Order: sequence, then structure tokens, then C-alpha cells
Amino acid sequence: MEEAAPGKKERAATKGGARKAEPTVLADLQPDRSPRASSGIPELDRVLGGGFVAGSSVLIGGDPGVGKSTLLLQAAGTMAVQGVGVLYVTAEEAPAQIRLRSDRLDIASKELQVLGEADADAAIAWARKLKPGLVIVDSVQTCRRLEFDSAPGTVTQVREVANLWSDFARETGACVALVGHVTKEGAIAGPRVIEHLVDAVLMFEGDHLGSVRILRALKNRYGATGELGVFEMTGQGLAGISDPSRRFVAQRSEGVTGVAVASVIRGSRPMLIEIQALVTSSLYASPQRNATGVDPRRMAMWIAVLEKRVGLGLAGRDIFLNATGGLKLEDSAADLAAAAAINSSLRDQPLDPETVMIGEIGLTGEVRAVAAMDRRLSEAAHLAFKKAVIPHGYKDDVPKGLKVIPVKTMDEAIEASMGS
Ligand code: TYD
Ligand code: MG
Repeated sequence: MEEAAPGKKERAATKGGARKAEPTVLADLQPDRSPRASSGIPELDRVLGGGFVAGSSVLIGGDPGVGKSTLLLQAAGTMAVQGVGVLYVTAEEAPAQIRLRSDRLDIASKELQVLGEADADAAIAWARKLKPGLVIVDSVQTCRRLEFDSAPGTVTQVREVANLWSDFARETGACVALVGHVTKEGAIAGPRVIEHLVDAVLMFEGDHLGSVRILRALKNRYGATGELGVFEMTGQGLAGISDPSRRFVAQRSEGVTGVAVASVIRGSRPMLIEIQALVTSSLYASPQRNATGVDPRRMAMWIAVLEKRVGLGLAGRDIFLNATGGLKLEDSAADLAAAAAINSSLRDQPLDPETVMIGEIGLTGEVRAVAAMDRRLSEAAHLAFKKAVIPHGYKDDVPKGLKVIPVKTMDEAIEASMGS
């Protein structure tokens, strides 16, 4: 067999690296513009950085049931229609199950072949013969290499299988998409062990109750990592949501307390999201502080500032916070909205539903400027918000129809949020 044991491969690599290299003037180097193939799914392309890169390997991780197989089968379907040969290697489900799913997704193409094979070397042999442009391996945890004794899903097997396929991608120029399950316990053989072996790692996440799914890049050698793809799981597969703000704030019921809207930047696009807070008196000696989609340390800071600088009585209260849509809040510009939501719930007074809150909170209770204010405001105007509470000092243009209320301190921000 050609397939080398890891030791031999490493030696080969060092030998290659020992070839005499010479320095080149940076400007004279040819930029790496590896060809990309659109997946045919704009939200997936966005996260990939423009499509699948020839010769690259991508790991798609996520909880079981989130929709990894569905997403990749849809991409396979559209790419096959465009004439790209696709090989779908399934070791988890029977090919007949893939067929069932494809009926639901309305996929039928002669360019799409399905192989039910758990032996990775046997699957590679088929891939060499068929020369597909895209290979899907579903999943790395259920495939194995027979030359290694361990069971599928163990660290050794997962790593060897991923290694084999990423080498295949590099050698042949095919794109390989590997599916990897993540377990709640962060299972030992989870995709983490292979992150460094692949060119990109995409995570597919969703709140299990809702139908929104978020795809984001944890690592991407060929693109930015901040980009988000937003989907909705429907009866006919995943539908891209190209206007996520509308989706995230659409379900807002008016007059409800503890709800505020933030304008955050994810990758290249601004998004409005709703932050919900519920503040109740606690039955426990140490009150509960429970956050979904929100960093608990950030939440502790908002609470501390609200207590100390604004004088809210939050001690002895349970506080629950939730960023809607299964989105993770990683933008400090959402501070103001979160604090306003907490305040609104505590006082049981609704916020003005047409106001968006944008700004970072400092420990002294000051409201600090955030980047890309113009794009955040445009998004708010786009969704017909009327007012934006923002850090004072913003000098640039304000979109038509939007009134900005500049604030310096948390006190002022809280007052402005109540619409007074
Ligand atoms: P799946 O792609 O099998 O998830 P994964 O590969 O990540 O384990 O999708 C699983 C869920 O998606 C399953 O509960 C059924 C649902 N689903 C839909 O709601 N609509 C569809 O069109 C499809 C194909 C699946
Ligand atoms: Mg699956």
C-alpha cells in the first residue's frame, strides 16, 4: 500500500522541506489565488470565504441533529447540478437514508454518487477512481482505517481518517468536507483533535427548540473567521436567511418588559438582535445568574455597573439573559442593550420598541464608543427603527428616518432607553 504510516510520511515531508529555498522580494511573489467553487448556497459560501477552495479540507462540526448532513447534501446537490462531480461517503447512515433525505430536498443529479463505506482507505480508492471535485465524509467519527486497531471514533481513528482525507485533498485538488459530531461533554475524540489538520473548521449551531441555525468559522485559512451564515431548518431542508435582522427582531411583541434591541457586527455584516432579560426576586441565598448566548463574565459586569453606578437593586434577584436566535453575543456594542433589558425587567417597564441601543459599558459607568457605528445605524434604519441610543461623540452621517440620542453615562442611557 502507498498509504504511509505517520512516521514515514513525516520523514517524507521533512525531506521535501529540506529542498534549497531562496528568499524572494515579497512584491514579486505570486499571491495564492486557489480556485474556489461556489457551494451554490450563499450563506455557506459567505462562511467559507467565497466557496470551497480547491485542494482544501473543511471540517463541519456540530451537535447531532443540527443539520450537518442536510447542509452538505444540499451543497452536493447544487454543485452536482453545476457539473461538479460529488462523492458522498456515508458511514453513519445507509445510502438509502441519504436517498430519502435527497427526495425531501429535491436533489437528483447523475454527478452525485453515494458510497456507504466505513473503511476510509477503501473510500479513498473510490475517490481516486471517480475524481470528484467534492468529497463529503459523513462522519469522521464513524469511519476508520483498518491498519489501526482502535475503534471508530477514538482519537487515533479520527485523526488518521482526517489526515488521510486532507492529504487526499491536497494531492488531488479536490475539496473534502468532513462531518464531525460534537458532544456536550466535549468528547475525547471530538473534532477538536483534528482542527489543526484541516484548512477550515466550521461550526453549525442552533438552539434546539428553534429552527434558526448559525454557521460560523472557528478557523479558516482562506477567509475571515467572523462571518456568520444564518439558516432556517424547514420542511425542505435549510433555507438561507439573507436578512437575519428581520428574522431576529421580527417576533418582538410590543409592550413586553425586559426586551432591548442591539446592533452587532458579525463578520462583514451588521445584525440586529434582541436581548431578553428576566429579573425576579430569588428564593435562594445565592441568586441565579443564567445566560444563554451571553458571556457570563460580561453579564456579571453589566450587573455590577447597574448596581454600583446606576443604583439598581439587583442583589438578591435571579437574572436570566437570552440573546435570541441562538446567536452568541461577542460584540461589546451589545452592552447597552443588555443593561437596558435588565433595567426594563427589574422596573417592569417596557422599552420603546422603536429604539435600538448601541454602545459599550465601562466600569465607571461611562458609555464608550464602538467601531463601525455607521453600519450599525444603517441596519437599524433598514429595519425602520426610529431612534438609536449611542455613545456621545459620533460625528458622521445618520441615516434618514433615524434619530440618534447621544449619551455619556449609563444613567443617561437608561433614561433614554425608557423613551422619555
Ligand atoms: P441532519 O442533517 O440529519 O443533522 P446532522 O447530520 O447534523 O445530525 O438533520 C437532522 C434534523 O433536521 C432532523 O431532526 C430532521 C430535520 N430536517 C428537517 O427539519 N427538514 C429537512 O428537510 C431535513 C432533511 C431534515
Ligand atoms: Mg448526519
